[in-house]
Amino acid sequence: MNMEIHNIDEILTGKILPKIPFARNFFGSTIGIFDSGVGGLTVLKQVMKVLPQENVIFLGDTARVPYGGRSVEEIVSINREILDYFLRQQVDMVIMACGTSSAIAYPVLKEEYKFPIISLIEPGAKAALAATKNFRIGLIATIGTVQSQAYQKAIKSINAEAKVFAQGAPLFVPLIEGGFIEGKETKKIAREYLQPLMEEKVDTIILGCTHYPHLRDVIQEIVGEDVSLVDPAKGATLVAKAALLSKGKLNDGGHKGHYHYFVTGSPAHFEELGSKLLNKNISGVKQVRL
Ligand code: DGL
Repeated sequence: MNMEIHNIDEILTGKILPKIPFARNFFGSTIGIFDSGVGGLTVLKQVMKVLPQENVIFLGDTARVPYGGRSVEEIVSINREILDYFLRQQVDMVIMACGTSSAIAYPVLKEEYKFPIISLIEPGAKAALAATKNFRIGLIATIGTVQSQAYQKAIKSINAEAKVFAQGAPLFVPLIEGGFIEGKETKKIAREYLQPLMEEKVDTIILGCTHYPHLRDVIQEIVGEDVSLVDPAKGATLVAKAALLSKGKLNDGGHKGHYHYFVTGSPAHFEELGSKLLNKNISGVKQVRL
């Protein structure tokens, strides 16, 4: 970075402004990322690409997975517990790496905390509208996300003409958490979930649950190459980057991000499955009580 040396008095008296971005964070910001389980790793993957210099505290609430069939009250209360946990960890930002939390808890909790909270819904809706040509958009997500209408409303508020066809896919999360990524059963279930969307001639499908990008290859094979699969995490990570930048908290130095992993369930299972899915070694996972 180009730093000009000035007489300190000139700076203190306000005659000139230092050319140093204020509050530059040399050691990276700390981003809290959470999900009910390994779904959050698909968001972490994007964060590692787009924000490689920031630190991450990843929390997988594996003792309570799946979230998708829980009531609105439960989802909000679980999210409050997790956000309180991140508050104690003094994070600079939280990315809700969970579609269900983004759809249901984000609208309730977004103003309650002093750090910015990033949701997946708006970035996902925008990315789908950018990808579609026939404005027939499919959504696969948890039952909670589908019923919340969060994606449907977000898409319609940008383009009232667009049509959204939503399909709950509740069996995907237990399959993925069990490590059944490419098996016969997974493919068969995927075909059943995707068939109604293909009958509606959608040209774009939002992977509305963060677990589902782990099944991207299986899904793409079934729907064919002409259908665009949208992962909302891509846009959400760019929103996170912009938010850090606007607060002067984006690290632009040589520091590489540190990653710390916590789960509410079994660390060993998360280490094994998570390493496979992230394609990177995850170790030192600790169990926490929220
Ligand atoms: N991966 C989460 C989501 O995006 C949670 C799925 C679940 O636990 O049911 O919705």
